[in-house]
Amino acid sequence: MLKGKKILLGITGSIAAYKSIFLTRLLVKNGAEVKIIVTPSAKDFVTPLTLSTLSGNKVLVELFHEESWSNHVMLGRWADLMLIAPLSCNTMAKMANGLCDNLLMAVYLSATCPVLLAPAMDEDMWKHPSTKNNLEKLKAFGNHILPVNEGFLASGLNGEGRMAEPEQIIEYMEQRFFLTGPLKGKKALVTAGPTYEALDPVRFIGNHSTGKMGTAIARELKSRGAEVVLVAGPNVNTSDLTGIEIMQVTSAAQMYQACLENFEASDLTIMAAAVADYEAREVAGEKIKKKEEYLTLELKKTTDILKALGEKKSKGQILVGFALETENEKQHAKDKLVRKNADLIILNSLRDEGAGFGHDTNKITIFGKEGDEWDFDLRPKAQVAKDIVDTIISKFYA
Ligand code: CTP
Repeated sequence: MLKGKKILLGITGSIAAYKSIFLTRLLVKNGAEVKIIVTPSAKDFVTPLTLSTLSGNKVLVELFHEESWSNHVMLGRWADLMLIAPLSCNTMAKMANGLCDNLLMAVYLSATCPVLLAPAMDEDMWKHPSTKNNLEKLKAFGNHILPVNEGFLASGLNGEGRMAEPEQIIEYMEQRFFLTGPLKGKKALVTAGPTYEALDPVRFIGNHSTGKMGTAIARELKSRGAEVVLVAGPNVNTSDLTGIEIMQVTSAAQMYQACLENFEASDLTIMAAAVADYEAREVAGEKIKKKEEYLTLELKKTTDILKALGEKKSKGQILVGFALETENEKQHAKDKLVRKNADLIILNSLRDEGAGFGHDTNKITIFGKEGDEWDFDLRPKAQVAKDIVDTIISKFYA
């Protein structure tokens, strides 16, 4: 995915600069064209000779060198992406305030390409309010910031502040900036996991969904080039999703609201969440006390999100729902397809062993509006997500 991409790598004075040697090697190995600028203090950590040998290009340092001065604007325009790794606390502060006292700063300030930053510093510096403030400013300027890792630090302490590993940086770059695929330019909205409906301040009604199917679908859509928003219910593990916008919600009402905010802009919506069908008619303000032998709860229907979106759907928008059934499966699934005005319904039957909540596998059948039907064997959920996305692409985007 990085083949032929022009990467401008900025290296600043941080002990993590040793990783930039390996990063350069990986970038070149992945087919990228790499030009490197180092700050004067970065030369104390890595030598331009090593970097120029690995990148195949002269390493630039001086601002007032004849060549660099005239080139600083062109360099920012040459690049498809400017990556600063490691980003020291000092350079971060300069970037946040527009200081221009070296070549790297001059190029950064004139760069028209996206800028990706991989901070590296000691934990106390990382947690300092001024660092947090600078990071917020850099985000607001539109820079992309990689999370730092936790672990052994140069100070000998353990904590947050390690620069992202070269492999993580490459993965982020590919996922965020250089994806190509049949869904490039398409926006997708996915829901995943359960919803929790409060009964009182400490209790809720929920279900056993883990969100594994929905997150696998979101990841697969992203890898085919789509821009993905994932609306995730409580306890859904989203930690390994890269380049996906995540909206964390708890209740069906919040999930509905998050979907409404994103639906109009979405080309493709896949509702994999196990939304609660009922919520408490009234949520008790205080913890419900144990009194009588029997307790009656009064529940009311939640909004059927899929159905509501089906009513709002406009031409060209694709809406896909799930049906979780325990009997008369195919008929119920086909009924839902019509009733909710979906374009496809994905059936999983709880009667199939290894399918449904909590499993790492699933067995599905997909139904389309024109009576089409696709049957799949029991497979790992990542593979099921591929089957779903393949079916969608071949039916709607081929
Ligand atoms: N769904 C939804 N909002 C709800 C309930 C369900 O958006 N309040 C969506 C689910 O995300 C899924 C589809 O509707 O894509 C079908 O969910 P399912 O629980 O199988 O069906 P229900 O409509 O709840 O019907 P029933 O309970 O009668 O089976």
